[in-house]
Amino acid sequence: MTTTIPVAGGAFAPYEVVVGRGLLKAAGAEVAALKPTRAFIVSDETVAAIHGETVRASLAAAGLATGIVTVPAGEASKSFEQLEAVLDRLLAKGLDRKSMVVALGGGVVGDLAGLAAALFMRGVDFVQIPTTLLAQVDSSVGGKTAIDTPRGKNLIGAFHQPRRVLADIEALATLPVRQVRSGWAEVLKHGLICDAAFFDWLGNEGAAGAQGDPDALERAVIRSVEIKARIVGEDEKEAGRRALLNLGHTFGHALEAELAFDETLTHGEAVALGCAMAFRYSARQGLCPAAEAERAEAGIRAAGLPTRLSDVEHGFAADALIARMAGDKKAEGRRLTLILARAVGDAFTDKNVDAETMRAFLIEEGAA
Ligand code: NAD
Ligand code: GLY
Repeated sequence: MTTTIPVAGGAFAPYEVVVGRGLLKAAGAEVAALKPTRAFIVSDETVAAIHGETVRASLAAAGLATGIVTVPAGEASKSFEQLEAVLDRLLAKGLDRKSMVVALGGGVVGDLAGLAAALFMRGVDFVQIPTTLLAQVDSSVGGKTAIDTPRGKNLIGAFHQPRRVLADIEALATLPVRQVRSGWAEVLKHGLICDAAFFDWLGNEGAAGAQGDPDALERAVIRSVEIKARIVGEDEKEAGRRALLNLGHTFGHALEAELAFDETLTHGEAVALGCAMAFRYSARQGLCPAAEAERAEAGIRAAGLPTRLSDVEHGFAADALIARMAGDKKAEGRRLTLILARAVGDAFTDKNVDAETMRAFLIEEGAA
C-alpha cells in the first residue's frame, strides 16, 4: 500500500510524493513512467553500498540504461568540487536533455544531485529517492537545492522541483537511530507549526517512530509531507509562509555554528532544542501561554531529543549566539527575524525581535 501526496499550487509543474514500502524495488517502473531516455543515479558511498544495487537493478529491469556516481557520505560533499565531479560524470556518460537524474540518499545527496540536475544542460528532470527521515519529510519536497561554501551553508543553489519523490519507509530500517531521531525533529516541527493534534500524537501513541517503528514512521512521514506540500504550494520561493518551516532553525543554526558543526549536536537535535527555545521565548514575551511551551517541550523530550542548553555538553556565550542569529558580528541594537508561536500548532514570523531582549532570554536559558 502506498500513499500519494500531490505537491501543487505554485508556478512549478505539479508532482507527487509517494510514501510506502518497497518503493526502492519499484523505482524502475516509477521512473520509466516519466519516460526519460536514460536514468543516472547520484548517491553517497554509504547509501550506494546498502541500497544502490536494488535501485540500479530496478531501473535496468524497467528498460532504462543506467549508471551510478557516488560522492563521499557527509555534508562536505555539498561542495563545488563534488558538484563538478557529478556534472562531469553526467557529461562523460553522454546523458542528454531528456535524461533523468535519480537522487538516492539523504539531504546531502538530494541537495547536490538536485542542483546538478538544475544546471546540467540548463536543467534536466530529477527524481528524489530520500533514504533518511529528514530527507523524506523535508529536503526532498519543495525544490530547494544547494551546495555550501566556506562562507556558509546552502549559499549556492537553485529552486528545481523534482518530477516525483519516492519515500520508502523500508529504506529507513538501515538508518542509525540517532539519524532517525534527528529527522523526527523536523516531523515534530511540522506539528508545532500548524497541526497540534499531530504533534500530540507524535508525543504519545506515535512516539515509537522516533526509535524506528515503521508503522509510526509511515504515518509521521505522510502527515509531514502533507504539511510541507501545502506550504510549498502556497509559497514556493519563501516570500512568506514557507519561512515558518524555519521554526527552531535560527536558534538551532546558531548552536550548530558555535559548535563548528561538530558531532556534539546533529542538525535535528539542534532544531529540536531550537524549537523548545522558540516556544519558551514566545512564552516569556507573553505571546503564548507558558503551558503551551511546556507542551512543546514534553513532546520533544518524549522523542529523546534535547530541549535545554544544559542538555549540551558545551558552554555558549549569549553575544556569540545573537551574532550568529543575526548573521552579523555587530548584532547590538539590531532586530532579529524569528519564527515564534502563539500555541502548539500556531507559529508565526516575527521580524522585530529585539536583540537585547533576546540576550536576557539567552542568559536565563543558561548562556554566559
Ligand atoms: P545526510 O544526507 O548526510 O545523511 C546522513 C547520513 O546517513 C549519511 O552518512 C548517509 O550516508 C547516511 N544514510 C542515508 N540514508 C541511509 C540509510 N537508509 N541507511 C543508512 N545510512 C544512511 O544527511 P540528512 O540529515 O539526510 O540531510 C542533511 C542535509 O539536508 C543538509 O545538507 C541540509 O542542508 C539539507 N536540507 C535541505 C533541505 C531542503 O529543503 N533542500 C531541507 C532540510 C535539510
Ligand atoms: N527546509 C525548509 C524549506 O524547505 O523551506
